[in-house]
Amino acid sequence: MSQSNLFLTSSAADKAEYIRMMDATVRAVAASMDHGKAYAGMTPENLRALVRTEALLPEKSMGFDELLKEVSEKILPNFLRPSSTNYMAHLHSSVLMESVAAELILSTFNQSMDSWDQAPVATEIEVDVINKLCALYGYDEKADGVFTSGGSQSNLSGLLLARDRFCNEKLGWDVKKCGLPADFKKFRMYTSEVSHFSMEKSAHLMGLGYEAVVKVPVDNAMKMDLAALKELIRKDVEAGNLPFCIGATVGTTDFGSIDPLKELRAICDEYGMWLHADAAYGSGVILSEKYASRVAGLADCDSITVDFHKMFMLPISCSASLVKDGKYFDALTIHADYLNREEDEEDGYINLVNKSMQTTRRFDALKVWMSFRMRGKEGWSALITRSIDNAAFLYGELVNNPDFDVVVKPEISSVVFRVLPQAGCTESADDMNKRIRRALLHEHGVVIGQTVCHGDVYLKFTLLNPLLTHETLTGLMDLIASLR
Ligand SMILES: Cc1ncc(COP(=O)(O)O)c(C=O)c1O
Repeated sequence: MSQSNLFLTSSAADKAEYIRMMDATVRAVAASMDHGKAYAGMTPENLRALVRTEALLPEKSMGFDELLKEVSEKILPNFLRPSSTNYMAHLHSSVLMESVAAELILSTFNQSMDSWDQAPVATEIEVDVINKLCALYGYDEKADGVFTSGGSQSNLSGLLLARDRFCNEKLGWDVKKCGLPADFKKFRMYTSEVSHFSMEKSAHLMGLGYEAVVKVPVDNAMKMDLAALKELIRKDVEAGNLPFCIGATVGTTDFGSIDPLKELRAICDEYGMWLHADAAYGSGVILSEKYASRVAGLADCDSITVDFHKMFMLPISCSASLVKDGKYFDALTIHADYLNREEDEEDGYINLVNKSMQTTRRFDALKVWMSFRMRGKEGWSALITRSIDNAAFLYGELVNNPDFDVVVKPEISSVVFRVLPQAGCTESADDMNKRIRRALLHEHGVVIGQTVCHGDVYLKFTLLNPLLTHETLTGLMDLIASLR
């Protein structure tokens, strides 16, 4: 079968068509950015009706030009725009332009990171990027890591290594071969009550269940309360339970609070526990010259979750699981004759599947490689510092304004607050804050977060966008106050 327009090949016709299709796509995407709103405002019902296809698989080809027209009319205008300074709902960022170029390259060449023969240069780049990242977070040459699909998988990877180390080294039990030991119901891992739900999900996936997760109360700064933690561990040990891990958070999802890593390290050492750091959010702080010391404790953790699709502003998906002692990746190694033969390693061919929960895997490391090299230390430091500075500014404005209640001084770039009802208002503060968030979404093209704190509804600004200015932030505060 000879047909052009299928793939980019060395043929002149395919190259011309590739360039034509990519060029038309890039132009359509750029043309769709014709307003500053974060969201055009359509309701779920209207969107559903708009995008429902007559036939996902039409009888005859509709051709690329017709297809792009449909995409341009129905889809592009209704995308959420994370690049808008009116978007600050979640740990979900816009993407740096060079990383979009990286996406085009890695999708076009579609390398698969499981084995060297599917990704020769990509494997060597991922290995180099991982080594440099380990050094960046303060690990030595024993460290290792692997790219993953996101923070949830990086957390699962770190916690799984913790569980396996505990079984192998403390209980003398080969969990990889034999499954969980009889005592598995006694396993305990500790994490703060405001940590991400991937801690519980991981416990379930590891066969331990939610009951293995001990939720530790937080102090006023939303950090794990050390006295409470020590007491919980003491009681568990007394009851014959088996503490194996602390899952610290370096940048909680709502508040950006950072658990006290140095003290947690000491507690882990006392009880022979693994210290995992979920730095899905806070990992980006390392690049800010002004604020990097806030996450210096990461160097003392046994494993670290780094998410590049949050503060680092790289396209989804892009995350890494780093481990202080790479030997523990053995938990994820299994050899197959068809893929990752043992003799490959002996001959210097690295098969990255040996460290990964995934088999087929994207070359996400290219995005880090390109954007780190393009912007350099100085450029990165300025981007990250601006977001953290913006949060400090917003906090100062809110705390001095009697119309607002703000929960905690930000350590990174999230600010959780609520607007207070005016005198004589009959609407409850909870209902009013919920109503205001919906009105911002559908009537003003502004997308902000909402959460619950101490049982009350709060609003949240997650400030990942370095284009935000003090004026934009005070303007949004005024708009919110005016919607009461
Ligand atoms: C603290 C924290 N950990 C882990 C995750 C999960 O990351 P992902 O969505 O990349 O799986 C999130 C997501 O927001 C998070 O905030």
